[in-house]
Amino acid sequence: MFSNLVDIERLSKEEILFLMDTAKGFKFGELRSNVRDKTVAMMFFENSTRTKCSFEMAAFKLGLNIINFDTAHSSLAKGESLKDTVENLSAIGVDAVVIRHGEAGIIQSTLSQIATPMKFLNAGEGNYSHPTQALLDCYTMIEKLGSINGKTVTIVGDIRHSRVAKSNIALLSKFDVDINVCAPEYFMPSDIQNYPVNVYFDLKKAIKDSDVIMALRVQNERHVGENYPDVSEYISQYQLNSEIFRKYSKPEVILMHPGPVNRDIEISSELLDSSRAKTILEQASNGVFVRMAVFNTLLSQCKEVSFAS
Ligand code: CP
Repeated sequence: MFSNLVDIERLSKEEILFLMDTAKGFKFGELRSNVRDKTVAMMFFENSTRTKCSFEMAAFKLGLNIINFDTAHSSLAKGESLKDTVENLSAIGVDAVVIRHGEAGIIQSTLSQIATPMKFLNAGEGNYSHPTQALLDCYTMIEKLGSINGKTVTIVGDIRHSRVAKSNIALLSKFDVDINVCAPEYFMPSDIQNYPVNVYFDLKKAIKDSDVIMALRVQNERHVGENYPDVSEYISQYQLNSEIFRKYSKPEVILMHPGPVNRDIEISSELLDSSRAKTILEQASNGVFVRMAVFNTLLSQCKEVSFAS
C-alpha cells in the first residue's frame, strides 16, 4: 500500500479502487476511524476553499487533531527551509502534513530529504498535481455512472495550467476510459501529443459522445508574464451553456468542475444555477469521504500514539 500521497502516477489501479471502496464505506457509515488522536498539520501556501475545508472536515470526522499551520507567520518567513520546518513538526508530534504549494515537485523533494515517518499528502502542487481532486472526481463519476470503464470523459478549458487536468488524465488512463481534451491552442500543453488523450479544438465535436464533461477554470493567476487573447474569445468558442448541452451533447451527460468556478467565463451562470450543474457540489461533498479514506489509509500505518507519562 502507498505510504504517502504525492501524486496519482505513483498509485496503482488497485490502490485507487481500494480508496474508492474505503471512501464509500465512510460515506455510508460502514467504516469507522482507526486513526483517532493522530495529529495532522495543514500547510497551505496557496489559497483554497474546498480542499482545505474538506481535509479539515475529513480530519474532524476521523477524530484527528488538527494544527492549522500559519504559513505567513511561521519561521519560514525568517528563512527556515520547508524540510527543516517539517522535521520540526514531526519532532513536535505531528503525524502527517497536508501541503498545498505553488512549486511543482516540492512535496517529493522535501519528503526525500527527511528521515521521519511522517506522512505527506499533496493538496495541490504547482500546475502538476492535485491527486485528491482526481480521486474525488473518480469517486463521483463511479457513483453517477456505476463504472468509468468504457466511458468517454471530455476535459474542457485551461489544460495547460491545470493540475486537476493532469491528475485526472493520469488517473483515467489507468482505466478503460476514452479521454478527450478540448481547448484553444494557447491553453493546450505544448507536449499534449505525449498524453494518452484525443485532442480537440472544436467544443461541439469534443463533447458529442461524452458521458462526462469536466470544465476547468481559466487560471488567470498562472498567466502572469504570458500573453493570451481577450477572454471574450475563449467565451465565444468554449464557454459551456445550456444551448451547447441541448444541441451538441448526450442528454444524460454529467457536468463536472473542480471549483472555484469563474461564473460566465468557463460556465454560464444560467447553466451553473440549473439542475444540470448539481454534480459540482456533489464533487465537493464526496471530497470529504475520499480524504477520510486517504487519511485513514496513511495514518493507520503510523505507530500507535502513547499518552503514558
Ligand atoms: N478544487 C480546488 O482545489 O478548490 P480550492 O482551490 O478551493 O481548494
